[in-house]
Amino acid sequence: MIRIENLTYKKGSRTILEKVNLDIADGEFVSLIGPNGAGKSTLMKIILGLLSGYEGSVTIDGVDHRRWVKTHNFGYVPQKETFDPLFPATVADTVRLGLMKGRLFPPRDSRRRIAAALEYVELGGFENRFVGELSGGEFQRVLLARAVAADSICFFLDEPESNVDKKGVSRLYTILARLKEEGKTIVNISHDLQTAFAASDTIVCLNKTLHSHTRPELLSADVVTKTFGNAIRLLEKDHV
Ligand SMILES: Nc1ncnc2c1ncn2[C@@H]1O[C@H](COP(=O)(O)OP(=O)(O)O)[C@@H](O)[C@H]1O
Ligand SMILES: [Mg+2]
Repeated sequence: MIRIENLTYKKGSRTILEKVNLDIADGEFVSLIGPNGAGKSTLMKIILGLLSGYEGSVTIDGVDHRRWVKTHNFGYVPQKETFDPLFPATVADTVRLGLMKGRLFPPRDSRRRIAAALEYVELGGFENRFVGELSGGEFQRVLLARAVAADSICFFLDEPESNVDKKGVSRLYTILARLKEEGKTIVNISHDLQTAFAASDTIVCLNKTLHSHTRPELLSADVVTKTFGNAIRLLEKDHV
C-alpha cells in the first residue's frame, strides 16, 4: 500500500500541495484528476522519489519510499515533453534498464525477458528499433515494457492521452487493464475523464489539497466543480 500522510510541498513562497493524505491500496487503479497547475504531476514525482524538500511522509508497505525505490522499480510514463527523441538507444537497451537494478551486468536470460516484456505491450520484434523513431504511443509502451521486465508492482502514468492518437490510447488502456487484472497498482493522471472513469476503481480529485478519493459512481458533481473551479467551463467545452 502507498500511504501519503500530511504531504505539503512548497516552491518558494507558493504552496503547491497542502496537507495531502491519501492511501492507495495494492491493485487499485486510481485516476488523478484536477485542473492544470493543480499539483498532479508534482504529487506523482514526489511519490516516485524525483522531488525532495517536502513535508510529511510517503511510505510503501510501511517503508519510506526513498528506501523502497532502492530495491524496487516503479513503472513511470512521464508526460511526452520530457522525452529526448534523439536519444540514441534501441528499444532493447531501454527495456534492459528494467533488469539492471543493483546489477553490473544484465541477467543471463535478459534477451528472453526483454522479448516477453515487448510481447506483453504488443511490441514483439521491436528490439532493434531506435526509440527516437517510435510514435508517442509506441514509446509509452516501451516504458511500460521496461517496468514489466522489472516486475514492477506499481505503474504511474502522467496524462498518457497527450500526443497519442485514439487507437494508441485504447491500446494503452487495454494493457493497463491487463496489468490491473494481474494485481498491479496503477496511478493515472488523466484529462480524459470518460476513459479514466471507465478504467478506474477510484478517482482522486486534487487541486493543491485533496478534495475527494472515491469510486467513480460516488463522485459528486459538486466535488468536481469545486476541484476544477473556473476551469470546469473549459473542461465542458472539450466534451461538446
Ligand atoms: N519546476 C518548477 N518550478 C516552479 N514551479 C513549478 C515547477 N513545477 C511545477 N511548478 C508549479 O507547481 C504547480 C503545480 O504544477 P504541476 O504539478 O505540474 O500541476 P499539474 O500536473 O496538475 O498540471 C503549478 O502552478 C506550476 O506552475
Ligand atoms: Mg501535470
